[in-house]
Amino acid sequence: MTTPRHFLTLLDLGQAELATLVRRAIELKRLRHAGERHASLQGRTQAMIFEKSSTRTRVSFEAGMAQLGGSSLFLSPRDTHLDRGEPVEDMARVTSRMVDVIVIRANQHAMVERFAAHSQVPVINALTELHHPCQLLADMQTWIEHRGAIAGRRAAWIGDGNNVCHSWIHAAMRFGFTLAVATPKGYAPDAAIVAAAGKAVELTNDPHHAAAGADVIVTDTWASMGQEHEKAERAKAFAPYRVDRALMARAKPDALFMHCLPAYRGHEVTADVLDGPQSVVWDEAGNRLHAQKALLELLLART
Ligand code: CP
Ligand code: NVA
Repeated sequence: MTTPRHFLTLLDLGQAELATLVRRAIELKRLRHAGERHASLQGRTQAMIFEKSSTRTRVSFEAGMAQLGGSSLFLSPRDTHLDRGEPVEDMARVTSRMVDVIVIRANQHAMVERFAAHSQVPVINALTELHHPCQLLADMQTWIEHRGAIAGRRAAWIGDGNNVCHSWIHAAMRFGFTLAVATPKGYAPDAAIVAAAGKAVELTNDPHHAAAGADVIVTDTWASMGQEHEKAERAKAFAPYRVDRALMARAKPDALFMHCLPAYRGHEVTADVLDGPQSVVWDEAGNRLHAQKALLELLLART
């Protein structure tokens, strides 16, 4: 049996593969808008194991697989024996004998790694506390659709050095742009991830410095899933990092505003920016569908 191809971080795909994937996502979007059916995964099945809430990721994977001719089954911790002590490794061995791909949203990145190590089929990381690579496929598609080539460009991440920030750092490495990351002290992205990115990433505590001359401004919630108890202290620490019109004005005049959503208007971003003319957040969310269809095709391609 061949070793399955997993997608646990964005770095699991090479530069050329990612470029091809984004082109394919744009093509799949065109086909869908033209009303042309494309059942490339007829008869294939995906299992979706979600330990945390989701709107976009769940809907886009389920709808995407259906549109490609396959089917999905959704499993919350309540529905399986994982919550009752069945080892992750055993669940991986069992489910991967029954389905063609397994999509996991987990509290701990280590859980997805353990699962993948014992799976006979590809495992896709649908968000962990450390990475959100599927989000970046859609984000890169969106940036490229709006602005063309992005190598050599500059994006500014404002706020928490979290899972989505880590995947933006990986995107900077793979797509050849620079990411300026502005966080409060104590909320910087993971030091090892930053170190591995070399010159692709620049760290600062000054949001206005990061935003200066940027082609894209991107942010995310100040309290990720699992950090709800830290909400009040985070709101205090992050208040100077809200993306508002003044911050957007530091970037290039045609800069895009991006956010993976869900967004909290008046907290990490003001309503006039999120709902304003520079915001591409709805395209970003919609592209989750097309980018993940391209990912499923890539990982399930029969050789
Ligand atoms: N951006 C994102 O992954 O959204 P969901 O949590 O709704 O899936
Ligand atoms: N950083 C957020 C992203 C949600 C899509 C979280 O992990 O909750």
